[in-house]
Amino acid sequence: MGGAGREGLGGGGQAHVYLLLEWAPGGTLLDLMRRRGGARLDEAEAAARVARPLLSALAHLHAQDLIHRDIKLENVLLGPDGSARLADFGLSIDSSSELPNTRLGTCGYFAPEVLDCPRKRTPFELKARGEDGTPPGYSSAVDVWSAGVVLFEILTGRAPFAAPSAQAVVEAIRQRPIAYPPHLSPEAVSFLSALLQRDPATRATAAQLLGHPWMLQQGSGDGAPPAAGASSSCGGSSSSSCGSISGSSSSCGSSSSSCGSISGSSSSCGSSSMAAAAGQQPAAQDSRVQGGA
Ligand SMILES: Nc1ncnc2c1ncn2[C@@H]1O[C@H](COP(=O)(O)OP(=O)(O)OP(=O)(O)O)[C@@H](O)[C@H]1O
Ligand SMILES: [Mg+2]
Repeated sequence: MGGAGREGLGGGGQAHVYLLLEWAPGGTLLDLMRRRGGARLDEAEAAARVARPLLSALAHLHAQDLIHRDIKLENVLLGPDGSARLADFGLSIDSSSELPNTRLGTCGYFAPEVLDCPRKRTPFELKARGEDGTPPGYSSAVDVWSAGVVLFEILTGRAPFAAPSAQAVVEAIRQRPIAYPPHLSPEAVSFLSALLQRDPATRATAAQLLGHPWMLQQGSGDGAPPAAGASSSCGGSSSSSCGSISGSSSSCGSSSSSCGSISGSSSSCGSSSMAAAAGQQPAAQDSRVQGGA
């Protein structure tokens, strides 16, 4: 959790916003998966350390009409108690005051309805509601989908929409049946299926998912915070990343993008950090997307 302070409004008219964040010493979820060689988390650990705090954070944000828009392994940090903290609000949007209709985020984590939205030359195009040609907007359900991708990754050790090319990743997101490995419990499959509904109208909300039988079955867990674990690190950046199990760094400056499933640790985002952790070949090319709200 963080606090913000503002100063310097007088004189030169410049504002400086400082965010004080809780220190998350455990690194990112991606780091955790790498440390474990790409091995999956067992269901109890995944529920307690990640699913519950992540969904609590999303339920808290969504109740305020805020959409994060870049949920992925590298934006989920691990706090002192080892449980998840949601970070990196650089692409977040207040949907009560602005229409979210830009195709941005991280490609392997794109919800299907995000794929229907355009990339834009500037953040301000096609924003007015009802404006001629305004593309359909999306909702906080996009975060639930992306959280579903994250949880699938940690529960299975692989990305749900991995494919050999960027275009194939997009096609996989749109229509490839999701293969749930047999080691998953029926409740876990039901849970993941509730997040990974292609129709946002039938996708469960974060608040509903906290009451899903799989969550209840896993109990309260060790070390899971009871409420939203949001560690906000908002750089105000309008750029976004594109890739599923994504890497530790990226070039966020490109205004064009190709979509990849598993992004890498370099600016071309061409390799899978999780695949690398597991000693596999990268699945798709990837690059970062720049976009506004
Ligand atoms: N509260 C925190 N505690 C510990 N580490 C943090 C915290 N906030 C951010 N970090 C570290 O900084 C990294 C980048 O933070 P963040 O995701 O907010 O910015 P970003 O815009 O994605 O930056 P980058 O482009 O470098 O990934 C995180 O992956 C994490 O390693
Ligand atoms: Mg980040």
